[in-house]
Amino acid sequence: MTIRSRLITQAALLQIASLLLLSYGVVSVQRALGEREVLRAETLLKHAVARTATDALIQKDQVQLLSYLNFLKAQYPALAYAHVVWHKGTKTTTQNLGAAPSVGRIDERRVRVSDPSMPDSIVEISFGVDRDVLREPILERQRMMLKVLLWTGSLTALLGLSLAVFLSRSLTTSLVALSRVAEQISEGHLGVRLEWESDDEIGALVRVFNGMSTRLADLDIVKKNFVSSVTHELRSPLGAIESFLPLIREKISAGEKQGLNLSLDYLDRIAANVQRLNRFITDLLDVAKIEQGRMECVLRPLALGPLAAEAARFFEAKALAQGVVVENMIDGVPPVLADADRVRQVLINLLANALKFTPSGGKVRLEAEQVRDAAGRWVEVTVADTGRGMSDADRGRLFQAFTQGTNVNEGVAGHKGTGLGLYIVKSIVAQHGGRVEMKSEPGNGSRFTFSLRVAG
Ligand SMILES: Nc1ncnc2c1ncn2[C@@H]1O[C@H](COP(=O)(O)OP(=O)(O)OP(=O)(O)O)[C@@H](O)[C@H]1O
Ligand SMILES: [Mg+2]
Repeated sequence: MTIRSRLITQAALLQIASLLLLSYGVVSVQRALGEREVLRAETLLKHAVARTATDALIQKDQVQLLSYLNFLKAQYPALAYAHVVWHKGTKTTTQNLGAAPSVGRIDERRVRVSDPSMPDSIVEISFGVDRDVLREPILERQRMMLKVLLWTGSLTALLGLSLAVFLSRSLTTSLVALSRVAEQISEGHLGVRLEWESDDEIGALVRVFNGMSTRLADLDIVKKNFVSSVTHELRSPLGAIESFLPLIREKISAGEKQGLNLSLDYLDRIAANVQRLNRFITDLLDVAKIEQGRMECVLRPLALGPLAAEAARFFEAKALAQGVVVENMIDGVPPVLADADRVRQVLINLLANALKFTPSGGKVRLEAEQVRDAAGRWVEVTVADTGRGMSDADRGRLFQAFTQGTNVNEGVAGHKGTGLGLYIVKSIVAQHGGRVEMKSEPGNGSRFTFSLRVAG
């Protein structure tokens, strides 16, 4: 059973139940009031008969009593009959007005009055009250009331049902649309969204759902990037090593001096490829540690100046070959609380990126300054370059693993990379309690700043 038909059925059942309950309540109240009315009418009749009987006794006028009873019988159809018995001493006279009907519910009432001046002068009147006749106007009222209830009830039921149909439709339309989009996702169309705007729970569900779909699409891209990076980063250095080895064997077997010198050059190239493989596998292991929450940093007071100088020296030869100047301006900042190896890794990643995207004649600068905020004192370290910069579209997602900007496609100094560096940088800095910020504009260089807590 669909939600829509379930909602409509429940609304209909609710309407019927409340209508029945209301009718039952109204009919019960009316019945109780009717019974009270019947009793009051009977009592009134009894009093009228008794009063007339007393008057007739005082005036010793039997005819007056009979004509009054006749008048009453004509006025109140519920008065079915009356038997009048006069007692005067030992003498008894009986008169009958009408006879008890064979059908209907007759209540017999009795009135006995005596003449106050002549106690042996007594009149006894037995009269029958037809309850069905008394009840008839009450039953008529009940029937009318039920009719009104039925009409108004049907009308409200109709309105209620239309409302239930409308509400269930507006509720299920979004769910049906959502399930269609979910179906598309399950068929592999990751990233599809449902365009639905509302401030209620459905709107919130759709927003979460769309977020989930975008995340799935991002993860899918990461997975694809991962597979292609791993394949490329393993295959190309291994391929290079494989092609240099037979060349070396050949040159060594020939035994010529020139060939031996060439072999040494090939060995250097093999070493560079082994280094590249090693770096990639180390990065992969770091990512695995980060994902498992096992990236541990041992925080100790650390002087940033020497560490930055060491990192800058590491890139000296590369920068020279590339025609780029690396300036280390880090000096005079207080020691920070940090893991030296991990901070070195951060600096090397950021410097490697800066050099990668800075063409000949450009500059890469290392700076640091002390800042203070509500959480305490920090040293902010910046790696700035005058290189290519990046577009708005690239900026938003560079800190995800296996994600690179479109600017790598324009050609870079050195090898292209795998998109792991900034992800590792961000995770290391987060482990230190700090954060990474970036400013970059296409053609105007980039500035990457990370913060570390001042020691002590
Ligand atoms: N200094 C920079 N100038 C311009 N773009 C940059 C800079 N630093 C990073 N990027 C952009 O950010 C992307 C991600 O950088 P990240 O260091 O994570 O990966 P990568 O350098 O491409 O590869 P890897 O670091 O794994 O060798 C780069 O591909 C590039 O698009
Ligand atoms: Mg990098």
